[in-house]
Amino acid sequence: MDSDNYSLVDFIEYNDPDIFKKAHFFYEYAEDYIAKKYFTYFRTLLTSCNPEVTILDRYTGKKKKMIMLASNNYLGLSSHPEVIKAGQEALGQYGPGLGGSPLLCGYSALHRELEEKLAAYKSCEDAMVFPTGFSTNIGVITALLRKDDVVISDRFNHASIIDGALFSGAQFRSFGHNNTNKLESILKNTRDKGKLVVVEGVYSMDGDLSLLDKIKNLTDVYNARLMVDEAHATGILGKRGRGTIEYFDLEGKIDIVMGTFSKTLGAMGGFICSTKEVINYLRFYSRSYFFSASLSPVIAACVSKAIDILEKEPQLRENLWKNINYMKENLTSLGFNIGQSHSAIIPIHVGEEITLRKMATEIHEKEIFLNSVFYPAVPQGQARIRLSLMSTLTKSCLDKALDVLEEVGKKHHII
Ligand SMILES: Cc1ncc(COP(=O)(O)O)c(C=O)c1O
Repeated sequence: MDSDNYSLVDFIEYNDPDIFKKAHFFYEYAEDYIAKKYFTYFRTLLTSCNPEVTILDRYTGKKKKMIMLASNNYLGLSSHPEVIKAGQEALGQYGPGLGGSPLLCGYSALHRELEEKLAAYKSCEDAMVFPTGFSTNIGVITALLRKDDVVISDRFNHASIIDGALFSGAQFRSFGHNNTNKLESILKNTRDKGKLVVVEGVYSMDGDLSLLDKIKNLTDVYNARLMVDEAHATGILGKRGRGTIEYFDLEGKIDIVMGTFSKTLGAMGGFICSTKEVINYLRFYSRSYFFSASLSPVIAACVSKAIDILEKEPQLRENLWKNINYMKENLTSLGFNIGQSHSAIIPIHVGEEITLRKMATEIHEKEIFLNSVFYPAVPQGQARIRLSLMSTLTKSCLDKALDVLEEVGKKHHII
């Protein structure tokens, strides 16, 4: 099979009475993809996600040092010594897991401490934590919506929001990205229904912001509830890093604030903040919460410490913004199309998937660790390189990455 003639979506649409046949053809596709050295997924890390990482290179079988521009560990907190110490202490006290869902035996003092910190951090009455961000969105949306309700979702929302909406059985409506006119017309047409509007604070594939102030006005006018996924905004946006809700001066005014621990907070897991009543309800009706073992107490301790550090080390965020501005200025002056990013995520638009496959191999060979994003994660013909910046990246790392991007970008006529 020539993998150049296929893309991931061909195997989603593949249909055969033998349900394993798709795996067979996908295997052939992946083998050819790897033989062409296009495959830059599942790179095996041998170190933590610092600016310089070591991987085991599948193509040479040797260790390779790379500059990391693909991790959402935006403030470098996953390797902060205080975070690691907090995790080690929790491991000693509780072990790695509690062996049950929070409702039964999986709820510790560390979980409660974290919930209280999160609620205060996001200016809400209460909070609860889930094992992943994905299961947070699924659990919250499926528990709150009924068949006659409507979930209204921005077209660029994360898969976990869309899956939550679909699993809920509620009616699903989506509006073009940040298209508040279309949102208003949906709200008008669903006046008599229960409604949840879901948006992201920072969009994960473009790094741009939601028009949260306008959207909040509309949800107030049309009596809809508003949920904001702050996965990529927490710790980054706003003067004190409290997210887009702070950036738009909406702290304490959003019905449901969702976030993840897997990005700025340097670990894994998810949370939501809302009223006491909503949180209490979700503890009993959110299936991905009470039918799943609780977040590890080790992670709870690490994240709790990471939140303290967000408050007391604002220089981490300041440095991240210096890096963001430096990269945006330089990429733009080199002639790259980086869209409307206003966060640590910077897309470099390439367009055709096959061009990006070739570029990704060359960027990898030149020791820059970057992510490539293809359809269906982004619309067809909008393949892109996605940079995730960290505050800990030095100027020399950024300059090396810029040199490589310039060389590869020119070769493939992107700039
Ligand atoms: C906007 C958004 N929401 C939710 C998630 C899911 O979070 P997690 O990876 O922590 O499960 C992600 C992860 O990529 C995301 O980007």
